[in-house]
Amino acid sequence: MSYIKLFMEKYDSLGIRKDTFKKFFELCEERKVKKIVETGTTSIIDWARAGCSTILFGEYCMCNNGHLWTIDNSPSAISESKSHTVIYSNNITYVNADSINVLLGFKDKIDALYLDSVDYLGDEAHKEISRQHHMKELQSAYNKLHDQSVIMVDDCQVPDGTMGKGELVIKWLKENGWEDVTSGYQIIMVKI
Ligand SMILES: C[S@@+](CC[C@H](N)C(=O)[O-])C[C@H]1O[C@@H](n2cnc3c(N)ncnc32)[C@H](O)[C@@H]1O
Repeated sequence: MSYIKLFMEKYDSLGIRKDTFKKFFELCEERKVKKIVETGTTSIIDWARAGCSTILFGEYCMCNNGHLWTIDNSPSAISESKSHTVIYSNNITYVNADSINVLLGFKDKIDALYLDSVDYLGDEAHKEISRQHHMKELQSAYNKLHDQSVIMVDDCQVPDGTMGKGELVIKWLKENGWEDVTSGYQIIMVKI
């Protein structure tokens, strides 16, 4: 069953992420994505501000016989996420640990990867920790990705004029044979 019709019920609530999430799910269906991994789970239901990725990915997996691994190092975030996604829980593995360690040890192929963990906030030192963490997540996941994988990074094109969480990830991917297929707050990358 295509997920797009169900997704469109949420489209108008998704604010600056609505078109990029739509593109992401269209690509996932075109490419028959079954295995999605995300860093940073949904602990708060706030469609416009946070995006509620775990709910959307869980719904996609339920409709497409797929599976989502949602990784978060906060026990309370995982517990909240479980409570928001009970109806998709057969299609979700909740992992309460540091994202880099989990991605390094991940055994499956990854058809779609969503990076949205360490917040890009505060002073320059903290922003650099966020950029570096997302870059390390990509490096840790990279040998599980394949030519048809879809990568999306949240909190890009931020008010300070940089690419936020995606600053290092997107630059590196572009230098290594990937291209961006969206612009805006979420960047989607696919292999050329
Ligand atoms: C912006 S929120 C995720 C929002 C979620 N993707 C959504 O759309 O609703 C970021 C999450 O990343 C988690 N996080 C921060 N550092 C992490 C790390 N090193 N490993 C795993 N998760 C981390 C936080 O606990 C927080 O729950």
